[in-house]
Amino acid sequence: MHNPQLNRHGELTHLLSTEGLPKDILTHILDTAQTFVPLAEREVKKVPLLRGKSVFNLFFENSTRTRTTFEIAAKRLSADVFNLNINASSASKGESLLDTISNLTAMQADIFVVRHEASGAPYLIAQHVEPHIHVVNAGDGRHAHPTQGLLDMYTIRHFKKDFSNLTVAIVGDILHSRVARSDIHALTTLGAAEIRAIAPLTLLPGGLEQMGVRVFTDMEQGLKDVDVIIMLRLQNERMKGALLPSAQEYFKHYGLTREKLAYAKPDAIVMHPGPMNRGVEIDSSVADGNQAVILNQVNFGIAVRMAVMSIVAGASL
Ligand code: CP
Repeated sequence: MHNPQLNRHGELTHLLSTEGLPKDILTHILDTAQTFVPLAEREVKKVPLLRGKSVFNLFFENSTRTRTTFEIAAKRLSADVFNLNINASSASKGESLLDTISNLTAMQADIFVVRHEASGAPYLIAQHVEPHIHVVNAGDGRHAHPTQGLLDMYTIRHFKKDFSNLTVAIVGDILHSRVARSDIHALTTLGAAEIRAIAPLTLLPGGLEQMGVRVFTDMEQGLKDVDVIIMLRLQNERMKGALLPSAQEYFKHYGLTREKLAYAKPDAIVMHPGPMNRGVEIDSSVADGNQAVILNQVNFGIAVRMAVMSIVAGASL
């Protein structure tokens, strides 16, 4: 079946999901990102790879990390960056998503970075645009958050080197998490030894076992001897009805405390895509502790997003 992310030469032209991306493309993105990391230490933090190109950030949902790091990444690639203020745009007057895209295309957009509450919105845009325009998914509904998945892979590779020996636990609201899906697909393709999901039954989607994931409802069993712990935010805005008794009860059973962290390997790293609910899914002593690499994830996100935009645009060093 045709992969809508690849052009007819098999090259990445849109980034819509980590699902279905070959290992060599994932590795190429991580390797390219690695070349951009040292740029942050330079006085002039810019390369001319996207000079003359226009990147439009279209965030129909709120964001701190993703939107800002896409903007920094595009500026470091020397692109012109336009952040559409969705609340002040004509979308609020009923203009359709594709009409908005057509109008921005008439303003010579080259790359659209899109976050949308509707799963599939970036796919719709990718089908609509001309072949020289590229779409990068910055999070669509519950479906996918591929650059978060990639920066998570970058972080894991940075600290643990080799995926083939690793046991990775993803903990929390997996049911509503686009990050969990993107991480599971990327970890599987990159050859992680074991992927675990730990959550109450009400926050576990069906089909995880078919994806090769071991499912646990108990933190002591699920965290035993893991190398990497990816904590997830409780996505209250996506929950319909009461799926949990209370935040306090959730923290008691699934909140990552120092005591629960001790079930993992002593050198396990703790990750979280943010934003964090301290005292709900993670205790501050862990979030700010020496095993946490949460701010490293944010920092690596700049280089990973530089890599993605330069690769889809066909620009290389
Ligand atoms: N991780 C993440 O997507 O964070 P933001 O919602 O702040 O972009």
